Amino acid sequence: MTASSSNQYDVVIIGAGAAGLMCAATAGYRGRKVLVIDHANKPGKKILMSGGGRCNFTNLNSTAANFLSDNPRFCISALKRYTPQHFLDLVERHGIEHEEKAAGQLFCKDSAKDIVAMLLTECEWAGAEIRMKTNVKSIAQSYGSYRVNTSSGTLACTSLIIACGGLSIPTMGATGFGYEVARQFGLDVLPTRAGLVPFTLHPELKQQLAPLSGVSCPVDAACNNHNFREPMLVTHRGLSGPSMLQISSFWQPGDPLTINLLPDRNILEDLLALRKQRPQSTIAQYLALHLPKRFAQAFNEIHGWSGPLQGYKNSDLEQVSETLGQWTVKPAGTEGYRTAEVTLGGVDTRQLSSKTMAALEHPNLYFIGEVVDVTGHLGGHNFQWAWASGVAAGSAA
Ligand code: FDA
Repeated sequence: MTASSSNQYDVVIIGAGAAGLMCAATAGYRGRKVLVIDHANKPGKKILMSGGGRCNFTNLNSTAANFLSDNPRFCISALKRYTPQHFLDLVERHGIEHEEKAAGQLFCKDSAKDIVAMLLTECEWAGAEIRMKTNVKSIAQSYGSYRVNTSSGTLACTSLIIACGGLSIPTMGATGFGYEVARQFGLDVLPTRAGLVPFTLHPELKQQLAPLSGVSCPVDAACNNHNFREPMLVTHRGLSGPSMLQISSFWQPGDPLTINLLPDRNILEDLLALRKQRPQSTIAQYLALHLPKRFAQAFNEIHGWSGPLQGYKNSDLEQVSETLGQWTVKPAGTEGYRTAEVTLGGVDTRQLSSKTMAALEHPNLYFIGEVVDVTGHLGGHNFQWAWASGVAAGSAA
């Protein structure tokens, strides 16, 4: 395959998502001739659907501690060099109104479309070209350049950047293509699984909780020595909400979750005091004080707690307290890549430069964004990684 001179680029980026667009603008501003290709019909589709349509575009408190990776120190360098404040400055230069929701989580006030428009404007100003609806058929390397055989002709480039994301939400154009390229060039790909994903339940518990679909309450959810104190949402399929999404990234099939339904209370002390002060009151009444009404009712029924507190021995109350404070749920599974926000695992970072994202054995082949084995917690960290790794590669390619 040969490339006409018009199809010769310094940098070709596969994937017009968060990382690819950021990388394109960065390299373009350095005077590189840049082309971004993507098989989807429009760029930044995941940005558009993120944060409930308002894109949680960064987290002011993002540090390496907010990321999962088999090589946890890898992300430090890029995150330090391109910080949440850098991205916020860019957002503000484009006059995009934003707001801080939970601590540090920055969202667009209006629409995620603003972020995509900003990235496309940056690409335009930087002279980076974007070609959508372009499929990659094969990639070859010869004499220091890459040849990318696509549905719209053969491209030649000095630097090839893989920014095609992970496996989550296949209907949005997600593919495992980035992993295939990594393997083609001899890089290891660590096992992938869905992260930031709702849990499904076994039929009995699913049926018991079915009437609670749509009810949310603040909990502390723990699994494998990690815990998150955020809301839990019961859905018609299982358990979701920020606490469940967060803990799902640490969950392995078969593991139980331990959920404290009243993380702000000392439950045993409460129950002992209530029994003393109002012996006729019930556990249902106690629950109704601290949990959403429907949740309190259903949870009480599931556990068959009845009768006044004066009928409960200390050991009974200890058990009730344990059930509420350490509710143990064994999920049947997760909803998988269909609804997962991210893919855990991916290209092994031990074979990449933490400064440039280039493959150590192939200095002009780069991997950025979600395709790499760096996965953030919920709350804007994943985009921060996309921006930071995109800038790292765009500054070097
Ligand atoms: P991204 O997936 O953005 O882009 C990859 C691009 O590559 C796509 O355009 C795709 O079409 C293209 N591509 C794939 N295969 C290809 C192939 N074979 N050939 C050509 N092109 C190909 N994060 C966050 O920080 N805050 C948030 O609010 C949210 N919210 C959120 C909601 C939902 C519903 C999801 C699914 C995800 C989030 N995320 C998030 C996660 C965030 O969207 C994600 O981490 C980034 O988009 C990853 O950026 P990348 O550029 O790596 O991949």
